[in-house]
Amino acid sequence: MLQVVSPRREPAPTPELNPRRGRAESIYHALLREHGGTPGQIDELARAASRSWLADRLEAAADLESDLPDDPRALADWLEEGNRRVGAQYREYLAERQAGAPRRYFSCRSHALHFLRGVAPTKLVDGAWLYGLLGRAEDPDYAALIRIYLEELGEGSPDKNHVVLYRKLLDANGCEHFADQLRDEHYVQGALQLSLAHHAADFLPEVIGFNLGYEQLPLHLLISAYELSELGIDPYYFTLHVTVDNAATGHARKAVDGLLNALPRLADPRAFYRRVAAGYKLNGLGAGTTDVIEGFDLERELVAVLADKAAIGAALHSDYCRIGGRLVSDWLSEPGSLPAFLAALESNGWIRRGQDPQNSRFWQLIQSERAPMFGVFNRYEQQLIHDWIVAEPREQAGAGERRTPRRFRPPPAAAAPGSVSAGVPPRARSLVEVVRRETAGDADDFDGERAALRERLLAAPDRRAAMATARELMSPANHHSAVGLAATRVFSRLFDEAC
Ligand SMILES: [Fe+2]
Repeated sequence: MLQVVSPRREPAPTPELNPRRGRAESIYHALLREHGGTPGQIDELARAASRSWLADRLEAAADLESDLPDDPRALADWLEEGNRRVGAQYREYLAERQAGAPRRYFSCRSHALHFLRGVAPTKLVDGAWLYGLLGRAEDPDYAALIRIYLEELGEGSPDKNHVVLYRKLLDANGCEHFADQLRDEHYVQGALQLSLAHHAADFLPEVIGFNLGYEQLPLHLLISAYELSELGIDPYYFTLHVTVDNAATGHARKAVDGLLNALPRLADPRAFYRRVAAGYKLNGLGAGTTDVIEGFDLERELVAVLADKAAIGAALHSDYCRIGGRLVSDWLSEPGSLPAFLAALESNGWIRRGQDPQNSRFWQLIQSERAPMFGVFNRYEQQLIHDWIVAEPREQAGAGERRTPRRFRPPPAAAAPGSVSAGVPPRARSLVEVVRRETAGDADDFDGERAALRERLLAAPDRRAAMATARELMSPANHHSAVGLAATRVFSRLFDEAC
């Protein structure tokens, strides 16, 4: 009987990519920086480092507990049971909220925005772990998994591409510059996903196991979506995942099908499944959703924002700006005194805690378009200031209690949940017709990339070669660009017709 071997270990020590960054963050950025501008290619240093790091992370995850059944034949029941349990827990949550319980996750709007920033490295490579399977598009055993990847990419539609959607969500809320807030553990999940993307040939069962864990519907997704909507933040990215991860036909089901199809017929399926289980455990590493949510402290975040502005702000305040008998420029030149500066703003009436922010002179300085400090704070930072002002002062809230802002912006109309794949098989079209249709555009400077893609695809001798060309632009670093989306549309149509 053939044996499934464990992933080969690199004999060389792990190279350091960027000593000023943490390991996961270095690998994350290196895998998104493709070699010499060649789509889909990473350099050898990044390849070696990520492979070695991935093998280390598998060892680190080996001690984690897992609820995966020992026998893959039990996965269908496990899937249904998991969904039933999450559904029941969510109903309990809703009943609690209807009975007047406070939000479980987000104490205020800036807390929710802080969460969106904290999970951004993971969400901006959503789906990446399956990229390495695209080269197997002709093998029906991998069709379910490739289908998940194509749906993560919205099949090339910018309105459905998960990374495009998350970027828009960050931009819409002033959260696009998140890097300073984050620690290495925030990059672990993203770096794992990118490492799996580029090492599928050596870690195929682990990719399949990671996918199985990632695509299950978690309770935190339902609660996050509910509370984001409540706080006036568009929950579409999250509600979309509630629908695509469903157990009946969604990614959760496809993930199980993908595993069962890939189980070896000749080699040892138990050894393969052991590696699947190891990949499943990778989901437990790094900062997860609830870790990021629990890591929020309103005042600490506000002080961090002020410290960030202080270096420039200290030099820009004139010498008649005094708070509590001290020049503002003096307050700002000593980052350690910022909590005392906030207290001085409060005791001198510049900020009236626990009241409408409009009653605070400090808020008026930053808020309206003609305000002297207009534009200094972005939308996320303004939300932090708003929430800190609205929150009860410490002595009134009581020691040890979490201070919760009392007023929030009204929630928007609930977003319609998305649906991803169309059920009707497409009519077979010629390669030329598919390429022309999906890469249409003018051959001017704005559309030059798409025109170049069209030329390359039309020069391809057959569908297989055209799919190989398109695939390079569907890497985690590229698929969300205009040309990456066009390549995804071509690949998706050709894949649909072949299935
Ligand atoms: Fe996704």
